[in-house]
Amino acid sequence: GKSGYPHYMLKEINEQPESLRQTLHGRVDALAGKVDLPEFPPGTFEDVEQVQFVAMGTSHHAGMYAASMLTAHGIPAHAYMAGEYADCPPPADGRTLVVAVTQSGETADTLNAVRRARSAGARTLAVTNVVGSSVTRECDDELFIRAGPEIGVAATKTFTSQVAALTLLGERIAGDVTGVASAGARDLLAALSELPGDVQQVLDDGTAREVAEALYGCDAYFFIGRGPAYAVALEGALKMKEISYEHAEGFAASELKHGPLALVTPETPLFGVLTGKDETKTLNNLKEVQARGAPVIVVTTPRHASAASFADYVIEIPETEPEAAGILANVQLQLVSYYAADLLGRPIDKPRNLAKSVTVE
Ligand code: F6R
Repeated sequence: GKSGYPHYMLKEINEQPESLRQTLHGRVDALAGKVDLPEFPPGTFEDVEQVQFVAMGTSHHAGMYAASMLTAHGIPAHAYMAGEYADCPPPADGRTLVVAVTQSGETADTLNAVRRARSAGARTLAVTNVVGSSVTRECDDELFIRAGPEIGVAATKTFTSQVAALTLLGERIAGDVTGVASAGARDLLAALSELPGDVQQVLDDGTAREVAEALYGCDAYFFIGRGPAYAVALEGALKMKEISYEHAEGFAASELKHGPLALVTPETPLFGVLTGKDETKTLNNLKEVQARGAPVIVVTTPRHASAASFADYVIEIPETEPEAAGILANVQLQLVSYYAADLLGRPIDKPRNLAKSVTVE
């Protein structure tokens, strides 16, 4: 049941401290600065030359997030929309690791991409929530995100658990390839250990609800970010369009001036996800948007909060490492979408035209 919550989505949003605890359980040795994934014997990934993520929708955004983390470790990585990968497969061989990210493990596009990757000779790894799902039968290896069952059509707790699991996997791959733990591993793993408590702080903060109450019913909603925060921006927009039926789009902050800025008016609130180390450029982008009259909402840590004080709304998240900050920003955006959809009277757990699992392309 819904345990007293009006919707499964709100229940699942509130379950995230616990689902993340399950995802991370036994896998993080923060003191030693080591990731412990017994699924993969030592050296499993030492021959990997490139990583290709294949996934759809929310899972694709988790793959994008992971690809930017691996790239930062110096490992060539890219996230493909699985449907596009299956139609137009990129070069892959035995030193390519193809990671299929799929909550259900049943998404047809993703299964097809895995088949294409296998026939090219690539190694395949499933990152999924469902034990015994089709993707686990199609892939060489598997890593379970352990988020628990998700009933709401909109993916919430499975996204945060995917990102957490992929962060561990990324550290592990980088460690095997380079032979050493990454420079930031200890800080990152300490931040991940704090994540369940940090998510609880976000859930106890009422700002997302106030922003939804102030801004629901506008013409459109835009979301921008850079690097991993670009994936968070895309996910924020996907959640908003799915459950509120409002027009919502995510853009790379760098893309804004190359077209999307023409859409900005006083009736198009724009959310900036500022979770990187240096966000000077994104802050400047947001000032330009504000000068065109659009309400600007910044989701950020205390590190950038004073520089962002010009914004119409600042939604704060606890101070943490950038890789973990994106997860916290995502939870705030889940809440904004949820409350906006609720104020608009939408059927939040079963949005029109959508299915929880897309088994036909
Ligand atoms: C969005 C959503 C969809 C799924 C997509 C992939 O909230 O739920 O975009 O993320 O259909 O599904 P899985 O992860 O099961 O492959």
